[in-house]
Amino acid sequence: MQQGQNRITQLFNIQYPIVQAGMIWHSGWRLASAVSNCGGLGLIGAGSMYPDVLRENIRKCKQATDKPFGVNVPMLYPNLDEVIQIILEEGVNIVFTSAGNPKTYTETLQKEGVKVAHVVSSTKFAIKCEEAGVDAVVAEGFEAGGHNGRDETTTFCLIPNVKKHISKPLIAAGGIALGSQMKAAMILGADGVQIGSRFAATPEASAHDNWKKKITELQEGDTHLTLKELAPVRMVKNKFFHDLEDIYNTGRNKDLLIASLGRARAKKGMFEGDMEEGELEIGQVSALIDDVLPVEKVFNNLLEEFRNTGNPIL
Ligand SMILES: Cc1cc2nc3c(=O)[nH]c(=O)nc-3n(C[C@H](O)[C@H](O)[C@H](O)COP(=O)(O)O)c2cc1C
Repeated sequence: MQQGQNRITQLFNIQYPIVQAGMIWHSGWRLASAVSNCGGLGLIGAGSMYPDVLRENIRKCKQATDKPFGVNVPMLYPNLDEVIQIILEEGVNIVFTSAGNPKTYTETLQKEGVKVAHVVSSTKFAIKCEEAGVDAVVAEGFEAGGHNGRDETTTFCLIPNVKKHISKPLIAAGGIALGSQMKAAMILGADGVQIGSRFAATPEASAHDNWKKKITELQEGDTHLTLKELAPVRMVKNKFFHDLEDIYNTGRNKDLLIASLGRARAKKGMFEGDMEEGELEIGQVSALIDDVLPVEKVFNNLLEEFRNTGNPIL
């Protein structure tokens, strides 16, 4: 292995083992190409895109970078077969699937030469990924923004356990915005990191400016993992969140919960900028994000902090 290379940089043919998470309403071609141009792996988030919008984003990303990039396919949303077809037609050769069964698309994609990573929130599902033959596993802790598992296992506890049970390249996600956190994740056994929240607060992210500003104001304790019965998701405790809590407190009516949700609420909040009625997905690490910074600056900070972190006490 070349100096400065590891299993993740080799697998995806990138310079640094830093993956920008696929994020609904944030990760279009601008964000993905900016991260890839810095030497990481940018991912276009297909979850909030109609199939033709995804195709357009892939084409624009190819024009904006000659470096590798991928597409994230959360299996919660409709049109999945069409999305996979577009990815293959457009010649994208890296896919991160999430929120579903790793067996569903791994073989189909790999047969066409696509490298597949799958996102999980537990060791049990990481083992299933390995059985499904994925090329890499993303293990995402309880701290993470967006959809998550029910078990509340933190990144600090999850990564060493997944590492003990699988041999595939491992990417840590959840609670990573600083170089020190990246280094900690890699000391725990990860070969690379996937970062969401930190990249959400960049000019290149396609989210609304109200939301980016809000991210920089969030404090410890301002997010909560809710909706465990449906699809657990970490979000800001705004009016929309409290309305959901009221439904819980008056008898947990599942139909009412479903009616309050839908992609429309996430779009209303993060894309259209309604900070009260919209769903605002973000990780606990938002308490450490104080500025909207260009991707290049985020990247340079991460690398510098990574190199300078270390506390030789013992
Ligand atoms: C605004 C937002 C949207 C997200 N959307 C998706 C998504 O579409 N698909 C997915 O697999 N994960 C999604 N996630 C989770 C991220 O991919 C990533 O694993 C997570 O953000 C990592 O934790 P961090 O936020 O602490 O960095 C989202 C996270 C955020 C903050």
